[in-house]
Amino acid sequence: MDDGELFHTVTAGKNQMPAYAPQVTVTDRWAVIAYIRALQRTRLGTLDDVPEELRASLKP
Ligand code: HEM
Repeated sequence: MDDGELFHTVTAGKNQMPAYAPQVTVTDRWAVIAYIRALQRTRLGTLDDVPEELRASLKP
């Protein structure tokens, strides 16, 4: 999903998921989306994302 689709789902709800617009401000809803993206990046990152001079320090 792109960012707008995630934001819309939280804002308006979908099927069994309720809308969170009444409880979560627009700014905080976007912050939730940014947090989801940060979580995704921690899972999808590879050694190639780390500057070359720091890679050795991450290897076991
Ligand atoms: C603000 C954080 C949340 C985000 C970003 C989020 C996002 C999503 C997304 C993207 C989907 C998939 C919609 C689709 O299939 O197209 C979904 C489904 C769902 N969410 Fe959430 N959600 C959030 C919070 C919650 C909470 C707190 C609950 C429960 C109280 C909840 C309950 C559900 C349920 C039951 C579905 C399945 C809806 C269905 O297809 O019947 N969500 N959510």
